[in-house]
Parts: sequence; structure tokens; C-alpha cells
Amino acid sequence: MTAVTNAVPAIEVQDLEFGWPGKPAILDIPSLRIAQGERVFLRGPSGSGKSTLLGLVGGVLVPRRGAVRVLGTDLATLGAGERDRLRGERLGFVFQMFNLIPYLGVLENVLLPAQFSPARAARVPGGDLAAEGRRLLTALGLGSPDLLARPVTELSIGQQQRVAAARALFGRPPVLVADEPTSALDHDTREGFLRLLMDECRAQGSTLLFVSHDTSLGGLFDRVLSLAEINRAAAPAGAAA
Ligand SMILES: Nc1ncnc2c1ncn2[C@@H]1O[C@H](COP(=O)(O)OP(=O)(O)O)[C@@H](O)[C@H]1O
Ligand SMILES: [Mg+2]
Repeated sequence: MTAVTNAVPAIEVQDLEFGWPGKPAILDIPSLRIAQGERVFLRGPSGSGKSTLLGLVGGVLVPRRGAVRVLGTDLATLGAGERDRLRGERLGFVFQMFNLIPYLGVLENVLLPAQFSPARAARVPGGDLAAEGRRLLTALGLGSPDLLARPVTELSIGQQQRVAAARALFGRPPVLVADEPTSALDHDTREGFLRLLMDECRAQGSTLLFVSHDTSLGGLFDRVLSLAEINRAAAPAGAAA
């Protein structure tokens, strides 16, 4: 069973409204609560506002109205620098396009969060950052020394995605946010990747918020949410059905 606790939610959204400047609201979410340790799949068609919601959770975007709390901290009470710090400490992000740094090696990419957040480095057991990076890469199926020595640009898409996941997990962020991380993977690789990601989240005790338009993956999660069901704003014109 899941280690869901009744403590402060990992993520809590209340009366949230967001719209791009000069545009009508695309998100109007009365309530969303994700418990610590929960693994949640948020589905919604392309263009429906999933990445926008993740930007609000990460404090990169600011709502027109309402509250976003990450582990009990209301992001509106923080300045931009404090939001950056909170994001670095508490949130690991896996992006659709991976966002790996091409001129850094595999392990250097994984260790990047330690550069931005002392808290992430401090949470590494025993303080051996490189050993922890290698442990994560091995857990995600990238343990071979040959792979570690290659430039990230010479890895396959599936391998790059695993490097991105190891980087997001590095330093045990309490909350992992994944934005369509499987969309570049073929079907067989997708489920394998997701199982490894979930195993590692469980081992680290990280909450997982995973968004995708690919509903076939929902069965692996504790809870599946539809953005359309929690969002009262009309879908923007052009959002795929
Ligand atoms: N930086 C931006 N400026 C203006 N509109 C944007 C921006 N980013 C996304 N949008 C619009 O916001 C809507 C939701 O986009 P997005 O959150 O990326 O959807 P999803 O992640 O579900 O595919 C779309 O209509 C998109 O065109
Ligand atoms: Mg998106």
C-alpha cells in the first residue's frame, strides 16, 4: 500500500485562477489536494493547461487569484528568489524535452540540483554526491561505465529521459513533478521507465505528480485526475479533444 500520510498536503491548490496576460482564464480550480507520498496521474488533452498548472505549482507562474501551497508554504507569501529556493529544495522536475545540459556529462547533469540547492546536496546520504548520482542512474537502468562516459547528446532518447529522471530525483526532493516525460518514448519503453521512476519515488518517499495526455499509463498510479473535472474554465480554443 501507499505511504500516504494525513499530514500537510504535498500540494494544495485553492480557488486558483490563472490566465495569460490579456487572455481569459484557462485555469479556474476550486480545490486540488495531493497528499504526501501519493502518486497522482493528471490527464488532459494537449493545450488544456497541464504544463501551466505545473508552472504555478513550481512558482514559475503566479496566479491571478487563489493559493498554491507546497508542503504547507503558500507561494504567494514568498518573493521570487524565495520561490526559486523552495523549488530547488522541494521539487524535482522532469520535463517533456528533458532539458539536459549538452556540454555536461551524464553524471554532471544528474548532480546539477546540488549546485542550485544546498538542501538537495545536504540530503544525500553520507554526503557522497557522485556515489548517489551513480546509484540513481543504476536504479534507472543506466549503470554501465560505458554509458556514463558518453556525452549526453550521444544517448538514445530513452536513456536521456532516464538521466533527466535521475537528475529530478537527486537530493531526494519531497515532491517530484513530471511533465509528459514519456511522450518521446515508444510504448514498450514507456511503462518500463514509469515503473522505475515510481519505484525510486517510493524508495525516496517522494510524492509524484505526473501529467500526460496518454491515458494508458493511469493504471499504475494511486489516483487518476482529469484536469477537465477539476477545472471550471473553458478549454482554450485549439485544445485537442
Ligand atoms: N507562455 C505562454 N504565453 C501565452 N499562452 C501560452 C503560453 N504557454 C502556453 N500558453 C497557452 O496556454 C494554453 C495551455 O497550454 P499548456 O499549459 O502548455 O497545455 P498542456 O500542457 O495541457 O498541453 C494553450 O492555449 C497555450 O497555447
Ligand atoms: Mg504541456
